[in-house]
Amino acid sequence: MASEYSPGLEGVMAGISGISEVDPIQNTLIYRGYDARELVEKCSFEEVAYLVLYGDLPTHTEYDAFTSRIKAQRDVPSSIYDLYRSFDNSAHPMDTLKAAVAVLAAQAKNASDISESASLAAAESLLAKIPTLVVNGYRVTHGDAPRPPSKELDHNQNFFYMLTGGEPNPMFNKALNATQILYIEHGFNASTFSSRVTVSTLADLYCGVVSAIGTLKGPLHGGANEHAMAMLLEIGTPERAEAWVDDALTNKKKIMGFGHREYKKGDSRAVIVKKHVQELSDALGNRKWIEISDIVEAKMLAAKNLYPNVDFPVASTYYLMDIPVELYTPMFVMSRVVGWSANIIEQLANNRIFRPQSEYNGPHDKKVTPLAARV
Ligand code: COA
Repeated sequence: MASEYSPGLEGVMAGISGISEVDPIQNTLIYRGYDARELVEKCSFEEVAYLVLYGDLPTHTEYDAFTSRIKAQRDVPSSIYDLYRSFDNSAHPMDTLKAAVAVLAAQAKNASDISESASLAAAESLLAKIPTLVVNGYRVTHGDAPRPPSKELDHNQNFFYMLTGGEPNPMFNKALNATQILYIEHGFNASTFSSRVTVSTLADLYCGVVSAIGTLKGPLHGGANEHAMAMLLEIGTPERAEAWVDDALTNKKKIMGFGHREYKKGDSRAVIVKKHVQELSDALGNRKWIEISDIVEAKMLAAKNLYPNVDFPVASTYYLMDIPVELYTPMFVMSRVVGWSANIIEQLANNRIFRPQSEYNGPHDKKVTPLAARV
């Protein structure tokens, strides 16, 4: 049964899901019935990860068991670091991460098991190990020794500890908690959709996550956060911002961190993250990035009626916390692996293979000239 072609599948309903609801009219994001704004205010990353994976917020006992399981699984085999050392220096961290997750799959005993219990176990293992791969991937490819992950610290504290070896700053933890919660899940975005397409063939969770990492890398999706920071750095000063945007728009360039397929009146996640940029800028006495951002925002609204999406304020948040720009997109994976996993498990529970149609617009009736006669 043919249906009308919609470029980019805009407006096409491709599935039914009970995991998250993106409401562009109300400008809200709901995870399993809870407003993401309230989750950011009241919950830790681990509580929300549990909610998205298991369907509701954990009890105290469930929370303790879940966080203990995650902390205990943070180590990765040292052979993965040998692999990192073999990579080209210019390798993008999303490519090294994608390779490392594929290796974890090949080293796992039952990676091909697509039962719900095996998928949940694989999801927890990846949730525990991906921050280790992200930070130690960066360390090893920059000539530093891998730092063993903490077995006590929570998700956010452990990330800062692994990166700096020092005491985590409470204000940084709060900001990272917000961005990591808000990155967990977001409807049928491109990477989530690709993970669902992959497992709809009855491939396993690892395959779905590897597909999704590749999809997230692109600048129109998760790669937008590091590209947004590259843009802010290139603009450099508030005085240059307006002319820079004018010039970019005249040259038909896309401004990274702006626009969204679903949200047309602003991204509720961006509003929350911007508060953290403000708080960090004031506390650190560095208002440069927020001043440039405000000018870019005003200009984009006036010129294109486009609002910033979550990746725009995330870029300044991470930069103010001294996190290397090349880690911004891999840090998205540290969180979104939860959403991908929940979607993969939901897809497998009620599966039908994704197989849409394409309309052929190539030539017909060509005749084969033998190779020897072809010039
Ligand atoms: N900068 C400049 N113009 C933009 C823009 C941006 N960031 N985002 C959209 N537009 C313009 C397009 O050029 C197009 O204009 P036109 O109709 O005059 O040709 C119009 O807005 C519609 O954009 P389109 O790319 O077709 O929308 P989409 O729904 O297919 O794409 C995004 C959505 C998010 C991919 C797109 O807005 C984008 O590329 N944003 C920048 C990357 C980004 O921040 N991604 C992270 C998303 S969370």
